[in-house]
Amino acid sequence: MSVGIESIGIKLPSYVIEAKKIAKLRGMPEEKATIGLGCHMVGLCLDQETVVDLAVNAAKRAIARWKGNINEIGMIVVGTESSLDEARPLSAWVAERLQLSGHIRSYEVKHACYAGTLALRQAVEWKKATNSPKSALVIAVDVCLYAPGHAAEVTQGAGAVAMIVGKDSICSVDLQTYPYSEPCFDFWRPTGDTFPTVDSQKSLTAYLKATENCFKALFADQTNLSFESFRSICFHIPFPKMVLKAFRHLSLSFNLSEFEQHKLLRDKVLPFITWNKEVGNSYSASLWISVAQALETAKNGEKIACFSYGSGFGSELFVLERNHNSGDWAEDIKTDLSKRKEISIEEYDKWRKKEVFKLEKQTIPTDLTEVA
Ligand code: HMG
Repeated sequence: MSVGIESIGIKLPSYVIEAKKIAKLRGMPEEKATIGLGCHMVGLCLDQETVVDLAVNAAKRAIARWKGNINEIGMIVVGTESSLDEARPLSAWVAERLQLSGHIRSYEVKHACYAGTLALRQAVEWKKATNSPKSALVIAVDVCLYAPGHAAEVTQGAGAVAMIVGKDSICSVDLQTYPYSEPCFDFWRPTGDTFPTVDSQKSLTAYLKATENCFKALFADQTNLSFESFRSICFHIPFPKMVLKAFRHLSLSFNLSEFEQHKLLRDKVLPFITWNKEVGNSYSASLWISVAQALETAKNGEKIACFSYGSGFGSELFVLERNHNSGDWAEDIKTDLSKRKEISIEEYDKWRKKEVFKLEKQTIPTDLTEVA
């Protein structure tokens, strides 16, 4: 039995601001945000919108276009670093709203931006190991916020991707997988801290090292594969320029010519970061937004390389193979982009001041109706 993804649903946040406007507010040259880091739009959850809303709405969309029945879900796993509680998993909030209970394994996975991928891998491995007739609901979701004035504020974003894992109707997920990890303090958020602490240079170096080691392991093991074998090469996207840096690094490691490098970037990498550029860094969801875009246009039999990175650090590379050409999750992106509201610099500034105050008071809802 080949295990894979049966359905996909995406949810982007309801508000947005241009990255260059945040740069302007903070006295950063706009070109540093747009050219230096490649940022375009920053998706924001304002008002009452929470990480739970993003997760639930992505899941509802995945379930709505799924051929299965909600009773056939045997596992719900949420990969996130935006959890609401040290004990209660985010999956419980989501299951509550989706009225999912019973013989279901329900839990949350944390490993910075790598969590969504771990959730997916665990679902694939659960399906394979148990041979269960049921499917898993996997959600990669995050709200990414840095402290006001932090250099990475222009890279912020939010989003959720939900996937039903079971049959390989959209694509199969290769069981062979190539992880690489090293304990490292490159980006971390101690319990109780509102915003992450970042060692910027260390994070860039760690990401590049992870990329190189994962691709080396893949190509050493599957000698029939090369960069050319893929229809798309998808990366975790903390900011779009990181993908260029990573690919340049890979090109040096694998002795690609300038011509090969540019052709691969043009054909297999850059076309699949445009959805991400509309929302910014959505941490766990970031790679999966790119993969969803790649799957959307891939043809039967085409392969997609998925490189996941999460600070701390852990990374993993594996291959998906497209099965059928149908897929309308691009509608989720179109709908959300057409409905979202762009806010002004003044509104953003006011919201950040209020939000920091609120977050620092730790208003985690105790009454579940607050998040319902
Ligand atoms: P920084 O120190 O503000 O920026 O940090 P910089 O001085 O390195 O400049 C950035 C780029 O802008 C440079 O280009 C500059 O030359 C250019 P590069 O040399 O890199 O090609 N630049 C300009 N370009 C045009 N006009 C100008 C101008 N000025 C400068 N006027 C950094 C930037 C991304 C490091 C910072 O935002 C940061 O710390 N971000 C958070 C960490 C991060 O994203 N790391 C990436 C890898 S780790 C990761 O992906 C995990 C993560 O998603 C978290 C998780 O796992 O949960 C973050």
